Amino acid sequence: MNEEKIFIMKNITKTFPGVKALDNVTFEVKKGEIHALVGENGAGKSTLIKILSGLYKPDAGQIIYKGKEIKINSPKQAKDLGISTIYQELNLCPNLTVADNIFLGNEKSKTIFQYIDDDTQINKSREYFLNLLDSEIDPKIITSNLSIAQQQIVEIAKALSYKSELIIMDEPTSSLSIHETEKLFEIINGLKNQGISVIYISHRLEEIFKIADTATILRDGKLIGTKAIEDLDYSTVVKMMVGREIENKYYKTNIQESSKKQEVLLEVKNLSKKGLFENISFTLNAGEIVGFSGLIGAGRTDLMKALSGQLKFDKGKIIIKGEEKIFNSPIDAIKSGIVITSEDRKNESLFMNFNVRENITISFLDKISKYGYIFSSKEKKFTNEFISRLNIKPANLETPVITMSGGNQQKVAIAKWLITEPDILIMDEPTRGIDVGAKAEIYKLIKILAEQGKGIIFVSSELPEILLVSDKILVMNKGKLAGEFLNKDATEEKILELAV
Ligand SMILES: Nc1ncnc2c1ncn2[C@@H]1O[C@H](COP(=O)(O)OP(=O)(O)OP(=O)(O)O)[C@@H](O)[C@H]1O
Ligand SMILES: [Mg+2]
Repeated sequence: MNEEKIFIMKNITKTFPGVKALDNVTFEVKKGEIHALVGENGAGKSTLIKILSGLYKPDAGQIIYKGKEIKINSPKQAKDLGISTIYQELNLCPNLTVADNIFLGNEKSKTIFQYIDDDTQINKSREYFLNLLDSEIDPKIITSNLSIAQQQIVEIAKALSYKSELIIMDEPTSSLSIHETEKLFEIINGLKNQGISVIYISHRLEEIFKIADTATILRDGKLIGTKAIEDLDYSTVVKMMVGREIENKYYKTNIQESSKKQEVLLEVKNLSKKGLFENISFTLNAGEIVGFSGLIGAGRTDLMKALSGQLKFDKGKIIIKGEEKIFNSPIDAIKSGIVITSEDRKNESLFMNFNVRENITISFLDKISKYGYIFSSKEKKFTNEFISRLNIKPANLETPVITMSGGNQQKVAIAKWLITEPDILIMDEPTRGIDVGAKAEIYKLIKILAEQGKGIIFVSSELPEILLVSDKILVMNKGKLAGEFLNKDATEEKILELAV
């Protein structure tokens, strides 16, 4: 590797009202290096890279890019300098086609007439998806029809469509499953071989050890250290991030099999929706956690939407505690005791302009109010409990959700539904973008719900956590159930074999 630096950010400080997001941080990346940026939710990672990509201006500090001190005043300027960014929050225009999104601001025109050349854009997009990411997304489709994971792939393709010298990836794999992640790693290694530098942010620490050359660790807006990856191991990184040892990598409970109730809470029989999923049957007992694994596009999210009244199915039955139910809306599902935490926190879960307290209690008002009055002491007690258990930052009930870091928003979205203690809780990628400590806390809360006799459906693209929390694991492949394992028989390899 080259010792030459692509940039140096020196003594950067950035303050938001009430929060010092970055405090005198120095961060530098070499040419052709894959540099991981790690830290807990709210540590300042996204803020740091948003300064580099021209979205935020620092209060103090210098940026030296390719040997020259510069000011980066806009995202456009950053792009012209050769910096391209995949932001953590997906930013595609929902009403445009996928191809239009990829080339937005960079349209291919037909020579002098300045018509946008749709065919070229579409063909180019298809090439990106297929060659790069092994993905069959149709470039002509309207973007709002894509799942979160597919949108993430489009964002990646978009960033790769510019000629760049530095590519910043803020949690590019938070919705990707192993297969797509491995494809992305091949691409990243290819970029590195061309001398391109990559900044890689992820809460999946295993990925850091697989892909990065160097890691920089932030905590509470401060630089903790920069080290070569060979000089780090998992527990050292966690300790640097958190500032103390976490006893276990994950929380493990030992629920005795015998304590599981045999009561069937949910029975799904031959559920089908044309083009999305087919002939799905399974049961969920009281006290059981059923994991759903599969690749992107396997149909898991659509199935979950059908189970929670958000999507009409064509055939089959949903039976809850022995009674067949027909849901015309999510309200019907909630009345029957089924609640879903969506994979799409921004559009489906949170009221972004409302504060933490309002978001957490909105689905819970009947328990803390009477005759239209909200008991604010009760409201505070419940919300504060979740804020401290999940380590939501800033720990202030009145903070508007829109100003929070991605992982902290996700924690609010999860708290909102955990607090209602539904009979059946469907969680679609609940730990997306959440740091190690809070993940462990979420697993613990799920286990406690199960011990209370609730049933949980846990959809995740992260195999380690599926294996950790689920009693039973169902694997979906192209809309069908490809197989089922009891936890004790399941391994990552066996699951992948059925998923691919
Ligand atoms: N636009 C903003 N307005 C107010 N506060 C902000 C804003 N953006 C970030 N912050 C605050 O700055 C701090 C750092 O946030 P940042 O998004 O950089 O964290 P992060 O390390 O990327 O976390 P995550 O892993 O959750 O994405 C947080 O306390 C956050 O609430
Ligand atoms: Mg972030």
